[in-house]
Amino acid sequence: MRLASSIVVLSVLSSAASAAPNPGSILFRGGTVVAFNQQTQGLQIIRGGSVLVTGDRIASVSTSTPTKIPPGTEVVDITGKIITPGFIDTHRHGWQTVFKTMASNTTLIEFFNRYSSYVAPFFWNATDVYDSQLAGLYEALNAGVTSSIDHATHTWSKDASEAGLQACIDSGARVFWGFTFANITGLITVEQLYPIFRDMAKNPGLKNSPTTLGIAYDGWGPNPNVAEIDQIMGLARELNVSVITTHSLQGPWGFNNSPEDIHALNYLNISIPIVFSHTSFLTPTGAELLRSTNQYISITPESEMHYGQTHPFSYGIQDQASLGVDTHITFSTDILTQARIWLQQTRYERYLDVLEQNKLPRSNPMSVEQAFLLATRHGGLALRRNDLGIIAEGAKADLIVWDATSPALLGWVDPVAAVILHASVGDIEAVLVDGKWAKRGGKLLAKGWPEARARFLKTAQRIQAIWRDMPLPEPPAEFNGSPVVDPVRVDALRGPGDGYGNVYI
Ligand SMILES: *[C@@H]1O[C@H](CO)[C@@H](O)[C@H](O)[C@H]1NC(C)=O
Ligand SMILES: *[C@@H]1O[C@H](CO)[C@@H](O)[C@H](O)[C@H]1NC(C)=O
Ligand SMILES: *[C@@H]1O[C@H](CO)[C@@H](O)[C@H](O)[C@H]1NC(C)=O
Ligand SMILES: *[C@@H]1O[C@H](CO)[C@@H](O)[C@H](O)[C@H]1NC(C)=O
Ligand SMILES: *[C@@H]1O[C@H](CO)[C@@H](O)[C@H](O)[C@H]1NC(C)=O
Ligand SMILES: [Zn+2]
Repeated sequence: MRLASSIVVLSVLSSAASAAPNPGSILFRGGTVVAFNQQTQGLQIIRGGSVLVTGDRIASVSTSTPTKIPPGTEVVDITGKIITPGFIDTHRHGWQTVFKTMASNTTLIEFFNRYSSYVAPFFWNATDVYDSQLAGLYEALNAGVTSSIDHATHTWSKDASEAGLQACIDSGARVFWGFTFANITGLITVEQLYPIFRDMAKNPGLKNSPTTLGIAYDGWGPNPNVAEIDQIMGLARELNVSVITTHSLQGPWGFNNSPEDIHALNYLNISIPIVFSHTSFLTPTGAELLRSTNQYISITPESEMHYGQTHPFSYGIQDQASLGVDTHITFSTDILTQARIWLQQTRYERYLDVLEQNKLPRSNPMSVEQAFLLATRHGGLALRRNDLGIIAEGAKADLIVWDATSPALLGWVDPVAAVILHASVGDIEAVLVDGKWAKRGGKLLAKGWPEARARFLKTAQRIQAIWRDMPLPEPPAEFNGSPVVDPVRVDALRGPGDGYGNVYI
């Protein structure tokens, strides 16, 4: 698809940048551009290239400095640096940021019973949601995550919903905010959430923000309430939501929400993108349904390892897959780490197939280019947005500039390998969302960041204190019909005991 709507016609513009800065126009000059080639649908590396941003879009990508640029264009020399699209995180729960490091050894069942939206609302108020969500988005922007699908489970009241949405808008990030329809025992029902969702659509801030309204729903199956689903899908169409997302596990976890479940209700083959998080036990039928309806999954490599959701079938569906972070309070927040973990885990698994036959691998099963595309372009595809996750004419100006002379990167020749295998968040010098600077010179630019940080710290301290004193829940004997048992613990210490150690909260 060509995106011609807002491309500036360069020839009518003046040939030199005037002194007066034009905040709507930025020329990045002289860097290595990791661009997208629409013909090959793959990456194209342009060395000594230029990227011209006008307004919220990329106006041109070229091999040399354009001779004609809009008057007042800010010229940024990125010689020796690498410019890439921003990362896209297709599964996140941003509101939880204040729990950071509190749950480093938690299990998924403990997480539900201790840190989830089934517990938090009895201790949190709307200000807490706002502070925590905003800090989480700044953390993501700092890490070059310019777009995210937020499975926003903090919709337990009108105030809390409003606060979380407002934080998305105020952050400047491109958030596909998935308002969650769930019953929270003792607090609110799906029925009571319909008018609240309608109210969210009226937020005037949505008009001039890259944030859009989506829906998160985990009641597709087994045993769906069809009337409830029809209501929610009616709202999805009426309010033109940008995405629908669901947690899909299956296998011993139960928690199906499978492609088959949604297809059986006739809601899979629709124009709205549906993103399935995890799909740990995706069936061959489910995989074929995803392909035939062009719906995507979100692989969250670190969370699927941390919690044991696992991903035994995800290697085979990478053509319909994107990457997500999930509960960033318990591990990395950045998609770069997810891409790297996923690349190496895929290699490990595919090598194991060979070694288990007592043979040796002759080739390498996954490339850095594939990991890079999963972290960028595929997030856009999951959202049915051809203008996200790529550097190409007409695409949204969501960009990262990497300091390619850092100790980590010095000596690189392949910019994709440099980013995927050697870089860290610390090498991210600048981030733009929608053509606006979110980070520059290694510093977050958000106007209210110092105040937001101070507020967040106070909120975090108060909430962490409550959770510190809360007794750990006793694990249930079974969950969704499966027995709950202990895995074998690792022993990293010589001598008696298993040396499990402590958590230091
Ligand atoms: C939430 O609680 C904090 C701490 O008690 C307080 O400062 C803040 O005003 C409260 N916010 C709301 C909306 O009640
Ligand atoms: C919400 O509660 C209603 C009434 O008990 C139930 O029918 C429905 O399935 C529940 N929805 C979800 C998403 O759990
Ligand atoms: C619905 O939203 C999409 C983007 O998600 C937009 O392209 C389209 O124009 C919208 N349609 C209406 C009727 O607002
Ligand atoms: C989805 O719809 C397209 C046409 O719009 C059709 O080609 C495809 O077979 C459908 N897939 C399923 C699973 O119904
Ligand atoms: C986490 O570690 C703490 C301290 O060692 C322990 O008490 C707790 O049971 C552990 N939690 C889980 C879920 O294993
Ligand atoms: Zn999740």
